[in-house]
Amino acid sequence: MNTVQITDELQDYLDGLLPARDPVLARMEDEAHRENIPIVDAHEGAFLSLLVRIANAKRVLELGTAIGYSGIWLLRATSGGTLTTFETDHARALRARSNFAAAGLAERALVLEQDAVHGLEKLNARFDACFIDLLNSFPSEEVTRKVFDLCMQRLDGGGLLIADNALRQGLVVKPTNQQSRNVAFYNQLVAKDSRLESVVVPIRDGVSVARVK
Ligand SMILES: C[S@@+](CC[C@H](N)C(=O)[O-])C[C@H]1O[C@@H](n2cnc3c(N)ncnc32)[C@H](O)[C@@H]1O
Repeated sequence: MNTVQITDELQDYLDGLLPARDPVLARMEDEAHRENIPIVDAHEGAFLSLLVRIANAKRVLELGTAIGYSGIWLLRATSGGTLTTFETDHARALRARSNFAAAGLAERALVLEQDAVHGLEKLNARFDACFIDLLNSFPSEEVTRKVFDLCMQRLDGGGLLIADNALRQGLVVKPTNQQSRNVAFYNQLVAKDSRLESVVVPIRDGVSVARVK
């Protein structure tokens, strides 16, 4: 059977089943909507949170912070763990720090204001989960592979490798530009790697979820 078509009515129904968001997350959703800041939606936030809890991940790496929305979902799910997150945009990094503070998470969130690819090369740390939320921004398949390799090197058995925008609005089927080629290439890397078990879940723009065996 094909995946059910998400009509507006069905989307409203699903929205009605979402967990309530606290004032910090609710404010961030409003701000992101008003200012067109690309963040995950609450369905994906709740999904990320569940994945981290189920895997009992304590050290989470995120590539692409924006203003810290997904970071808050991830960090809260670690129950006392830590988040290391990369963001190149100065204004967004500042806002993310302030939002982590507002959520009472400042001590456990390290916002690194630097390029994720270069930063990750120098970062000598291990993680239980890695969330890639900038697949769309890589310049080439070569960089995409480099980021995949760098994340894999920092995960142990049982670690989670998650990436957003795995469907790239459907363009992955017949990639027409470099971004969609990169995402399709990433999906192949994950699917073909015998160290991983994986699935692409069609939440929003698609979430690639893989676990290191
Ligand atoms: C989709 S947004 C992240 C959204 C965030 N994860 C959320 O859902 O709340 C991607 C972010 O990555 C940042 N970015 C793009 N390329 C980057 C790079 N090479 N290194 C670090 N950050 C980058 C962008 O400025 C943007 O804020």
